[in-house]
Amino acid sequence: LSDEDANMLSASSWVAKLYHHLLRHGKDGKEAHQYLLNRGLTEETIDKFQLGFAPLADDFTVSFLEKKGFHRQTLVKSGLITVSDDGKARDRFRGRVIFPIRNHLGKIVAFGGRTISGQDAKYLNSPESGLFQKSRLLFNFDLAKPHIRKTNEAVLCEGYMDAISCFEAGVGNAVATLGTALTEFQSKLLRRYADAVVICYDGDSAGQAATEKAGQLLEKAGCIVKTANLDEDMDPDSYIREHGAEAFRRKVIEAADSFAAFRLRHLKKGFNLHLESDRLQYVEAALKQIAGIERPVEREHYLKGISEEFDVSFETLNEELSSLLRNLS
Ligand code: CTP
Ligand code: MN
Ligand code: MN
Ligand code: MN
Ligand code: MN
Repeated sequence: LSDEDANMLSASSWVAKLYHHLLRHGKDGKEAHQYLLNRGLTEETIDKFQLGFAPLADDFTVSFLEKKGFHRQTLVKSGLITVSDDGKARDRFRGRVIFPIRNHLGKIVAFGGRTISGQDAKYLNSPESGLFQKSRLLFNFDLAKPHIRKTNEAVLCEGYMDAISCFEAGVGNAVATLGTALTEFQSKLLRRYADAVVICYDGDSAGQAATEKAGQLLEKAGCIVKTANLDEDMDPDSYIREHGAEAFRRKVIEAADSFAAFRLRHLKKGFNLHLESDRLQYVEAALKQIAGIERPVEREHYLKGISEEFDVSFETLNEELSSLLRNLS
């Protein structure tokens, strides 16, 4: 760790304390505090994750950190402040709820800021730095790691609030990608600690498309992939708020589908199954997908499903599958 890196970590750690203090005890942080409580978080969770509030001021953070003796250059690098062409320093985060982002060692390397006024972008994150590369970090990995090891399974979510709500719901092995696609690096990281990953992305179409991609990457890394099945308008956090922790654990995490089942379901969305021609095309596409499944028993299982659902004989389907498999090898 270079001196400059150490200074950046120190600055981030001070700022996290400051923002957290403002949220818990400051007059300006009251609204943000209430916002988090309204979303169902407990004070204990707010403390555990050091959630905070960045005040709506131009240079509150700048002057706090400069008084502590940090150089402006360090603060710019860390992304906590920006400097305009005329040389004026300005806080990056203004009037936002703050989610500190810790690396695998538990050191704060970045922040996510959420609007509470509904104005501007919903989330604003720190820029990348030598210490913060989005593609290499999983939110909450440091706290989740022992749970991932113990359960031999990781729960993969999209957002900060999802991972935090999972934690509150007793699902300690949850991590989140930060609104970006899962990377090869992250999938290998998860594989090092667990055999299985439950993808628990949002139920909307963006989340489902991301599930397809992440699942393929995780399988490539050697993970057993399962997928949670959330309604269109749900994410893990909103599910937990609406149905409770127990339902989330039993009906979402423990009831997760195999990735193959997810893929067949996802594939279906591209067809209008009321049309005869689309039904046939779907069966063809499904067979191709089934041909890609490694275990014969699993292939047979899904083939039976297709046979029953579309009223095509198992033998015919199996013949087609065999010819697909021959072409593959
Ligand atoms: N995200 C981001 N910038 C955005 C939108 C999203 O960085 N403009 C990231 C955040 O890390 C966010 C994650 O993507 O947590 C998932 O996005 P989304 O599902 O839109 O947000 P939620 O986590 O559901 O946020 P909330 O429940 O607070 O609305
Ligand atoms: Mn193992
Ligand atoms: Mn989303
Ligand atoms: Mn979401
Ligand atoms: Mn959400």
